[in-house]
Amino acid sequence: MLPSTALRTASRRLALHSRALSTSAPRLSSNDGNVQLKAVETVGVLGAGQMGLGIALVAAKNADKKVVLVDNSEKSIEKGLSFLDKLLAKDVSKGRITTEIADAVRSKVTTSTDMGALSTVDFIIEAVPEIPDLKFKIFSDLARLCREDATLATNTSSISITRIAAAAGPAANRVLSTHFMNPVPIQKGVEVIRGLQTTDAHFERALGLIREMGKIPSESADTPGFLANRILMPYINEAIICLETGVGKKEDIDAIMKNGTNVPMGPLQLADFIGLDTCLAIMNVLYKDTGDSKYRPSVLLGRMVDAGWVGKKGGRGFYEY
Ligand SMILES: NC(=O)c1ccc[n+]([C@@H]2O[C@H](COP(=O)([O-])OP(=O)(O)OC[C@H]3O[C@@H](n4cnc5c(N)ncnc54)[C@H](O)[C@@H]3O)[C@@H](O)[C@H]2O)c1
Repeated sequence: MLPSTALRTASRRLALHSRALSTSAPRLSSNDGNVQLKAVETVGVLGAGQMGLGIALVAAKNADKKVVLVDNSEKSIEKGLSFLDKLLAKDVSKGRITTEIADAVRSKVTTSTDMGALSTVDFIIEAVPEIPDLKFKIFSDLARLCREDATLATNTSSISITRIAAAAGPAANRVLSTHFMNPVPIQKGVEVIRGLQTTDAHFERALGLIREMGKIPSESADTPGFLANRILMPYINEAIICLETGVGKKEDIDAIMKNGTNVPMGPLQLADFIGLDTCLAIMNVLYKDTGDSKYRPSVLLGRMVDAGWVGKKGGRGFYEY
């Protein structure tokens, strides 16, 4: 075969392959006609933990939205609000915002322990723990409680958006993922994922809100771990396996990755910051949903979670806080 013919054949194969890849994330019900959703005025955040609190802050501060923050634990709300005050005070002390702006942002956030407080909200972002049955129950409740045009987003790290959407029954077309990264006020990237059922109108609305929050959306397909965690979690898991099999001490594992690959922290410290319970839950979803042994969670990761050493949020993980 002449080189130019070989090149043409190769590029035709590549085009066919790309087309096959692009159709691997089908959009079965993406066309919802000319539905125009109202502009988002209020954002509801369910779960006032490390992610939910950060999402509430950027929605109020960057996007100027009214925020309803709901958590079933009064203690989590108190802890979240005191962290919010601390973050705003830091912004003021660094000259990033004035005291008046900080007060205005703070006044935009109201809280409740009752999910019913989300009934009038335009856009809801769920950030409760990474437990599939808990998320399914919550989306079934949200479908019943919320406005008929409310967008229902999940911050899940790994659970199938199509499955979460199915749990929302008749509201399945309004479910999608806005996967914020930790720490939310700092990380710019947000992974946006549609389920099979998600319509264009809700997807576009999510993209618009993310941009208003000052973030940069990237779309990925509804596959286990999506993009970010499919790449990140096996890296963290491998670092933990290196620790448990004695390939290196924790300080050396973190130091070589930090100093050798120019990341802000090593994988074990990063796991502590994410939460070891969250890392384990994500690895379990990757392992279970793919059936691929390369995603088997490290034994030590499971033991750490059994011991209650879940990382920074619990005061102890691979390091003490
Ligand atoms: N931690 C990370 O680095 C990270 C990054 C991206 C995505 N996520 C995902 O974000 C979600 C939340 O993670 P997190 O780290 O903020 O967890 P977290 O444990 O810090 O917070 C979870 C909050 O949800 C509350 N909660 C539990 N059950 C509830 C219910 N039924 N109703 C209302 N509130 C309830 C808890 O009281 C807690 O305040 C998870 O799906 C996680 O996988 C986490």
